[in-house]
Parts: sequence; structure tokens; C-alpha cells
Amino acid sequence: MSRPSQRLLAVVASGLFALQILPAQGDSTTTPTTRSVISGVFNTEQVARGRAGHRAQCASCHGTEAYTGEAFASAWKGQKVFDLFELIRTTMPNDNPGSIPQNELVDIVAYILNLNGYPPGEAELPNDPEALKRIVIDTIPPRS
Ligand code: HEC
Repeated sequence: MSRPSQRLLAVVASGLFALQILPAQGDSTTTPTTRSVISGVFNTEQVARGRAGHRAQCASCHGTEAYTGEAFASAWKGQKVFDLFELIRTTMPNDNPGSIPQNELVDIVAYILNLNGYPPGEAELPNDPEALKRIVIDTIPPRS
């Protein structure tokens, strides 16, 4: 292989590398393949709605201990926000699954994420299963 083509390959390879790195920096003008819950995937207005929704739709049967702290971290680490949303959508309330409007459930999921220490950002968690499949539940790095 001649030297110029090796250099070209290196340029192409570094270009590909840059393409993969950019979305991870949270550039809102690009559409990243995946986002992390750590990067601010819901906002404070949505959390407030979700808190009210949780009180109205969930708190009559249980508190939040089933989905906070260690229980949440070990059950959901590495999964997608969609998986959490879908579990709740298909199983809760356990006497009448499917009875809660989907947009309300998305707000409640935002509230649950915030309860687990994930920070709010600018935009709302979208009421869009495909988008929720691209958001990964990373564990929060421990504070020292
Ligand atoms: C009518 C009672 C009832 C209501 C209302 C209810 N739940 Fe539950 N939920 C249960 C029961 C009972 C369990 C434990 C048994 C189980 O897992 O089915 C449970 C368990 C859960 C779990 C843990 C499931 C798992 O497998 O880890 C989650 C998460 C959850 N509920 C979320 C919600 C949310 C969010 C709402 C409101 C949208 C809600 N629940 C409303 C009765 C209810």
C-alpha cells in the first residue's frame, strides 16, 4: 500500500471517530443514536406534572421504594427508558393496566428518573416509544 493512501485511510478513520464522538457531547443539533439519562432528558415542568400524576395514579397502592435507590439501579442499569416505560404501561395500575394516558405515563417516568437523581435538562422526555428506545439508563457516577 502506498503512503498517500495510508494517509487517506487515517483521515477517513479519524473522520469516523469524530462522527461517533460528537453526538456523545450532547450537541442538540444532531440526532445521536443513543443518549444517556445523565445528559438531561426531561425538564422540571415535566417532573412536576409527573409528581402530581404519580400521586393521583400510583401512590394509592405503593410508594416509590420499588423504583428508587438500589432496587432501581440493579433492575434498570444499562436498560432503555423505553423498557421502564413499557413495564409500567403494560403492568400498572396492576388492577387496570393501560388505563393511564401514555403522555401522563411519560411524565411519571420523568418523575421516577428525577427521583433517582438524574438531572433535568431543557427538553421534555418525548412521548415517543422509538425515541425512548434510544435513551440508556446509565448509573450516576458516585460522588466523592
Ligand atoms: C391498584 C394498585 C396499583 C397501582 C394503582 C399502581 N401499582 Fe405499581 N405495583 C402494584 C403492585 C401490587 C406491585 C408489586 C407486584 C408487582 O410487581 O406486580 C407493583 C409494582 C410496581 C413496580 C415494580 C415492578 C417490577 O417488576 O419491578 C413498578 C415500577 C410500579 N409498580 C410502578 C407503578 C406506577 C408508575 C404506577 C402509576 C402509574 C403504579 N405502579 C400504580 C400495584 C399498583
